[in-house]
Amino acid sequence: MSNTEKNEKRITFGTIHIPDLSKQLIAETLAATRISSGKLVRRFESSFARLIGAPTAVAVSSGTDADILALAVLYDYGAKRGDEVIVPALSFVATGNAVLHAGFTPVFVDIDRKTLNIDVGQIEAALSPRTRAIMPVHLMGKPADMDAINAIAEHYGLMVIEDAAEAHGAKYKGRDAGTLAQLGAFSLYIAHIITTGEGGIVSVQNEKDAEILRSLRSHGRACKCKVCTLNAASKYCAKRFDSKDGEDIRFTFERVGYSSKMNELEAAIGLGNLENYDEILEKRHDNLMHVLDRFDRFSPYLSTISEASHETIGPHAIPIIVEASTGITRAALTVHLEAHGIETRTLFASMPTQCPGFAYLGYREGQFPNAEYMGRNGLHIGVHQDLTLEDMDYVMETLAAFLDRAS
Ligand SMILES: Cc1ncc(COP(=O)(O)O)c(C=O)c1O
Repeated sequence: MSNTEKNEKRITFGTIHIPDLSKQLIAETLAATRISSGKLVRRFESSFARLIGAPTAVAVSSGTDADILALAVLYDYGAKRGDEVIVPALSFVATGNAVLHAGFTPVFVDIDRKTLNIDVGQIEAALSPRTRAIMPVHLMGKPADMDAINAIAEHYGLMVIEDAAEAHGAKYKGRDAGTLAQLGAFSLYIAHIITTGEGGIVSVQNEKDAEILRSLRSHGRACKCKVCTLNAASKYCAKRFDSKDGEDIRFTFERVGYSSKMNELEAAIGLGNLENYDEILEKRHDNLMHVLDRFDRFSPYLSTISEASHETIGPHAIPIIVEASTGITRAALTVHLEAHGIETRTLFASMPTQCPGFAYLGYREGQFPNAEYMGRNGLHIGVHQDLTLEDMDYVMETLAAFLDRAS
């Protein structure tokens, strides 16, 4: 294949659409000059919550902040700074960063190689008197073993917070990821299934947690109504001065907060994308399953995940694991894919032992063999809604050509 031929096809990792509805809402918002968080953000929150079957949701400025703020809710339930949160060793680094930024200590547990998710059999050994929560990650949209995780949490009195950043549309025993625990944190970053450009959202099961999150995203204010007349219309708000001593609750700070609001322009992009929610999910899931269902042909050199009967994988991406014992390397496969126009991402890394930022926690290489294996040998590629089944065939042919040459 010549170089020109090689570069003709582009299988990008992500895609972005600004639907007509978004353009119209953006134009209206700009004309009204009301761009900071207001009625479109509220509309986005209720539409998102309805689509995933959650009672409510609170939008924030990134998926990382969704993780951080969801974790910070723990303080209202009695957690203390430095308490411990169980997380899988393998995830995008934001999961571990979020635990630290929320003021907790991440305690890492290795993953199961078949599912890429936290190995539930190892969770109990990682608990201590300071453990407050478990944060499973539905990595690559594959739901974690939530029944087992919730059972452990219930037994030990822990909160469960799902990192559902990659799991829009994932279902576990008929329910959506993000509604399987007390709180669920989603990313709305461009490469994710539903996007606002940059953004995140926390799905919430009760109004108490929604209020805490609304306070947390706005500096920890005591002012945390669902509908804010001040933000939306600069109207007089009687509630503001209604406390016993007449103090302004907008400048009363109840907790250590963050500055993490979504703005109206981002919500407008999200609302347009939500209109096509089912279609986006279906297209991506078809692309994903087209490859997963045919992946055995690459055995024993390459492996991936599979969809079990109790679940639907949220169609984020195709994970590919280069089986080291066969002599094939991830580096060689990556170069081959990229040279043929297929964008790659690594399958992340073992946060505690392969990400230097976590070295100070004192973990040592070898403690998380499965996560570390993925960190050395895993990659993932896109399945987005602008790709076709023919594109997926091209991906498989490109993989096959590589193996023909290399094996
Ligand atoms: C598992 C996981 N958690 C958290 C995040 C953070 O999301 P964001 O990039 O929107 O901050 C990501 C983003 O890719 C992710 O994959």
